[in-house]
Amino acid sequence: MAIDAEIGFTSDVIRDPTRFVGRAEALDDCLKGLNTPTGLIAVYGKRGVGKSSLLRQVQQMAVGDYRLLKKAGLSHKISNSTRTYLTVYYTCDSLIKNADDLFTRLCNDQNDEDGLLRLIPDDGKELVEFSRAKEISSGADLKVVKWGAKGVETSKYARAVENDIVQSFRNYVESIVQHQVKRRMKRDSLLILLDEFDVIEDKAGIGSMIKSLSSPSVKFAICGIGSDLSDLVEDHQSVERLLEEGAVNVGTMNEAEVFSIFRTAELLFENAILFCDDAIKEIFLNSGGYPYLAQLLGKECVNQATRLQASSIDKTIVSMVLGDVKSGKAFPTLERQYQTAIGDSPHRKTLLHLMAAQNYINPYDGAARVLLKDVRGDASDWGVEYIDQNLPRLLEKKYGPILVRSPEKQGVYEFVNPIFQLYVRLRDLQQSISISGVRPL
Ligand SMILES: Nc1ncnc2c1ncn2[C@@H]1O[C@H](COP(=O)(O)OP(=O)(O)OP(=O)(O)O)[C@@H](O)[C@H]1O
Ligand SMILES: [Mg+2]
Repeated sequence: MAIDAEIGFTSDVIRDPTRFVGRAEALDDCLKGLNTPTGLIAVYGKRGVGKSSLLRQVQQMAVGDYRLLKKAGLSHKISNSTRTYLTVYYTCDSLIKNADDLFTRLCNDQNDEDGLLRLIPDDGKELVEFSRAKEISSGADLKVVKWGAKGVETSKYARAVENDIVQSFRNYVESIVQHQVKRRMKRDSLLILLDEFDVIEDKAGIGSMIKSLSSPSVKFAICGIGSDLSDLVEDHQSVERLLEEGAVNVGTMNEAEVFSIFRTAELLFENAILFCDDAIKEIFLNSGGYPYLAQLLGKECVNQATRLQASSIDKTIVSMVLGDVKSGKAFPTLERQYQTAIGDSPHRKTLLHLMAAQNYINPYDGAARVLLKDVRGDASDWGVEYIDQNLPRLLEKKYGPILVRSPEKQGVYEFVNPIFQLYVRLRDLQQSISISGVRPL
């Protein structure tokens, strides 16, 4: 019988606490952040490592859903004085250029379940309590089911925000705190979660703005790609004190956490499909600890098992899936990026593989770098000509970009997406490249 692989595995952000695994330390830090009356929570880490999923769990905990904390063995951290919130969740995009754009967007976001506008008290607007998780008993938030007698009346709000957007934002927040947070839901504070915060081009002043807006009844949580906080908040000195309890670095998963992804999937499949220990171990080793790759490989294994009518996934099935990855059949999105990057140049293809195989770890931030001088040495052995002609495409935005120059020194590069770097390593270059000293990411 065919099994829908999506039941157990997903490439989406994890909202449902029952699907979320591991991260006990990060959850503990987030809880501490939630319990500090005036702090800021800042979640940061590499691309695709699981930041947004963690931020969604912060939202769950904030509204009083503590199932995940119980699962992570942190029940003893919950008490009657654990602070509770109403929440706003917003995902930034590159069209937000600066602080003003950000607050304008926040004031105009009409999302029924996550937007700020939904919480502004207004005649005719109908709000209902709802649970973000399947279980009704878990913590409740508010969502709009009716925006007002004449439908969505954002023009009315837009007029209010014409001049001083930060002041309008303050006014909105004040009325939300008074009416919804305190009076209606009897919560301690409003929590504004901002995902993909790193894409805001000009972050000047945002840190100090957040500082001035934060209070015991308004808290911010920001999340984005970065190797440290300064990548997330430019004027981070201004928020340093707010961050004493709330800076949360999300790293790659350890073996036990990857095992939990598979044990959780088995439960979601109601044991209709099982994974052998050595199969999971093999997946872990190939995933570099990135839950995204673990989920994708899991999904492909289930599809492969269905084709073979097997109900147990062993190392042989994993090898078959890795064979499909090698030939480019398994992961179409990553494969498209791979083909776009190399274009029609076999030399660029080899160069890309040589670069992906490099793994110099910068001792200061622990991030992987590619040193061009090392690649040059290997390139001549591999018959790669014209490195300087083949490299630029890999840096061009139009074709990825696959790599960025590291600011620290000339000739040092970094893969923009570490998952793509892992994919290139798994992909076949006719002969597989083995370079001495290469360690897993
Ligand atoms: N705790 C977790 N348990 C199980 N799977 C997870 C967990 N965290 C993340 N994942 C999986 O990892 C993948 C990436 O997750 P997510 O989108 O949260 O990462 P991200 O760091 O926000 O990525 P990006 O940098 O692209 O925004 C998804 O497939 C998600 O299902
Ligand atoms: Mg994300």
